[in-house]
Amino acid sequence: MEKEIYIVGTGSYVPKNVINNEFFKQFIETSDEWIYTRTGIRERRWADRDEAASDLAAQAFNKMNKELKIDPLDIELIVMATITPDTQCPSGANWLEAKIGAKNAVSFDVTAACSGFIFALDVAKQYLLNGTFKNALVVASEIMSRVIDLYDRDSCILWGDAAGCVFLTTDEKYQGYPVLKSTHIFTDGENGQNLLMPGGGSKTTPISHESVDKKLHYLKLIQANDSLRVAVRRFSESIKVALKNNNLSPEDINVVIPHQANIRIIQNVAKLSKIPMEKFYLTIEKYANSSSSTVPTALDEAVRDGTIKKGDNVILTAFGGGLTWGSAYIKW
Ligand SMILES: CC(C)(COP(=O)(O)OP(=O)(O)OC[C@H]1O[C@@H](n2cnc3c(N)ncnc32)[C@H](O)[C@@H]1OP(=O)(O)O)[C@@H](O)C(=O)NCCC(=O)NCCS
Repeated sequence: MEKEIYIVGTGSYVPKNVINNEFFKQFIETSDEWIYTRTGIRERRWADRDEAASDLAAQAFNKMNKELKIDPLDIELIVMATITPDTQCPSGANWLEAKIGAKNAVSFDVTAACSGFIFALDVAKQYLLNGTFKNALVVASEIMSRVIDLYDRDSCILWGDAAGCVFLTTDEKYQGYPVLKSTHIFTDGENGQNLLMPGGGSKTTPISHESVDKKLHYLKLIQANDSLRVAVRRFSESIKVALKNNNLSPEDINVVIPHQANIRIIQNVAKLSKIPMEKFYLTIEKYANSSSSTVPTALDEAVRDGTIKKGDNVILTAFGGGLTWGSAYIKW
């Protein structure tokens, strides 16, 4: 029998500070009504100054592990999706490994912007299927509030901070648990410069007064409107691929956990993929776009509030800078 990858636990964490739309009025000309109607966002959570990405990730892990009770020493692999790691070196995953005491694990980051969690799932899946590791903690954690320019009207309103995780294993004693059936990942490097963090990498090394003065260390959204159109197309394609690969039709799907960038993207994806909007699980109104963390955070909430039930066909789908996009199918 082919190995199955069981999802034996989910966890998530959002920081306690609630930032509503009114907050931005001190920096830009805007309104709650404009932000809500254009994006679906009412508020977002932002981390404290002393919280780093690995702190949020550790909180998500601890929440999951309250029920799971895995010994951190038994974790073999940690893959962390993030574009806002604690430091560029060591990786966010290395910090997390130390923080949760997963001494025996191999840990590293995956960078695929808002699609990061799907890419991290895909990477972990390969190691589990080829038998290198028997289990994996797959986590996404982002502190987007550290990389936004509060005077950039187009993009400062969009972002939140959050972390989410799942624990995967091939251990057959978990038969009957949800199964990660397939993952599908795609990139387009040629057209990937519209969501860009120009500074802080080797392109502007070393970080200088000049690069900071030019705000190159902040995330920039260029042609924001164009990005809405491309996102709708790529999300829909990735759902179609997941359906086709698993011989499923849109009617078979019980819950879709989409990346939460803009409610208008999700509404159009629902139309194009012929899956009713009611099946798309939404957190955008309260958490906004926490990049790679939106999908695992929403997944954990959908599991805990009973939206996802045993036997459900669940699709995860995401799109992000790079360009990157992808999907996953889980038989819950
Ligand atoms: C940023 C975004 C909300 C803007 O919505 P939009 O419908 O594209 O709006 P437009 O760019 O057409 O701008 C409409 C007007 O609102 C104004 N506007 C822009 N930001 C504003 C803000 N924060 N508050 C109030 N008005 C704003 C614009 O200046 C423009 O005014 P004008 O018509 O007088 O020129 C939307 O494009 C978006 O969400 N894009 C990002 C998608 C994304 O997240 N991509 C990454 C996916 S992972």
